[in-house]
Amino acid sequence: MVLFDEPSIWELYGLKANPFSTSPLLVRGGLLPIELFQGRKGELTRLSRLFSSSNSTRALVCGDVGVGKTSFVNYARHQAMQKGYFTPFKEIGVNSDWTATDFMLNTLYAFYSTLKLQKKTIVSKQVFDKLERLVELPYNQTKLSGASALGVGVRFANESVSPPTIPSMALMDFAQQLFNELFEKTGKPVIIHYNNLENVPEQSLRKLYDDLRDFFQSEHVHFVFVGNFAVHSLFQSMPRVASTLSDTPLIISELPLDQIELILESRIKALRISEGLNYVVPYSREALVALYGLYGGNVRNILNSFSAAVIESTNEKPVVLGKTLLASVLNSLVEKRHLVGITQARAKDVLLEAVRRPEVTNRELSKHTKIARSNVSYYLRELEKKGCIYLRRRDGKDKYYCVEPSLRWLLLEKRVQLEKQAQ
Ligand SMILES: Nc1ncnc2c1ncn2[C@@H]1O[C@H](COP(=O)(O)OP(=O)(O)O)[C@@H](O)[C@H]1O
Ligand SMILES: [Mg+2]
Repeated sequence: MVLFDEPSIWELYGLKANPFSTSPLLVRGGLLPIELFQGRKGELTRLSRLFSSSNSTRALVCGDVGVGKTSFVNYARHQAMQKGYFTPFKEIGVNSDWTATDFMLNTLYAFYSTLKLQKKTIVSKQVFDKLERLVELPYNQTKLSGASALGVGVRFANESVSPPTIPSMALMDFAQQLFNELFEKTGKPVIIHYNNLENVPEQSLRKLYDDLRDFFQSEHVHFVFVGNFAVHSLFQSMPRVASTLSDTPLIISELPLDQIELILESRIKALRISEGLNYVVPYSREALVALYGLYGGNVRNILNSFSAAVIESTNEKPVVLGKTLLASVLNSLVEKRHLVGITQARAKDVLLEAVRRPEVTNRELSKHTKIARSNVSYYLRELEKKGCIYLRRRDGKDKYYCVEPSLRWLLLEKRVQLEKQAQ
């Protein structure tokens, strides 16, 4: 429904599209140009120094969901491209069920799709043709996450007969040949961005890293791995993996308020229907400050909140959300989206307790709500099924839960009222 309403909503504001979209900035293409990237000067310098420090490096970039990790690495790659580095445009999203062969095939496919876009390919015909043959093998196509882009989704009629697979070693040898050629042409190592490592279960990630150990030592490559803090702890728990990293992990933290303000302003300017037409900024600064405080500066949560509030409250004419209106719109949205579905009063008590904490264990919830731990576990499972709560991390036997970010909208009205009283 929203999909159809959206364009007309944003037109009311004099904008071509939703300025609060949460897609990461892309190296190439994308509705919002990569030049809208703000800040992170120190981190960018660190990564570019690492790139010029040697011909083969491995970096881990980590941070919370939605702080801006993918956009950061994409921007760093964009800058590197301008200095003559070759890097596949699209980051490689690692899938949970990939084998070493799948990993290699998807890596090669990322190179193939970028090389294919170039008018005059910079690698030799022999290497390009071999790359093309590899990605066009029917079995391989079923293993490529982007294969639908080729218009093929081949399935084997008889799944019990394993189609021939190419050993990952052979693919690694070929990849090295490709990297060598690109190095000869550009004079620089290639950069490969593996995204969302947290999607891969711990055991599989360990196995992948073991199987691909030699590949990650390839000459003429900068490997950049991106994941959340769980990936960080996992790397630390594997000394053999941690020791292959070229530097300590690069931590991406929340952006300061003035930079988020700039991000929003520059997006709105970039999306104006035309220079000559008026446009309306759908929020006030105090509304932004309120969301910034609520989410500790998490940019994705701020964008999602504005997006939901504007779509919800716009009818025939544009609205400007002040903090009071913002709080009441979001409050009724969270009631509608989540609370009405929770019929057990005690489950709601557990949820409301969790909303007030960045993360919480069963034990703490039981203590504060005075509900027996076994019952808390039951309510947590129910809330998890409803998508209200998720497991954020484990620490030994302790499980730390966290509410789905939009549930924190429940806190906004109280905060705004308190602020008003304080004034
Ligand atoms: N430094 C930045 N400058 C401009 N926009 C940013 C910046 N960091 C993040 N964003 C925007 O915030 C949203 C979330 O960023 P993303 O890179 O997807 O985060 P993560 O990968 O950590 O989940 C995206 O829409 C992105 O465009
Ligand atoms: Mg990301």
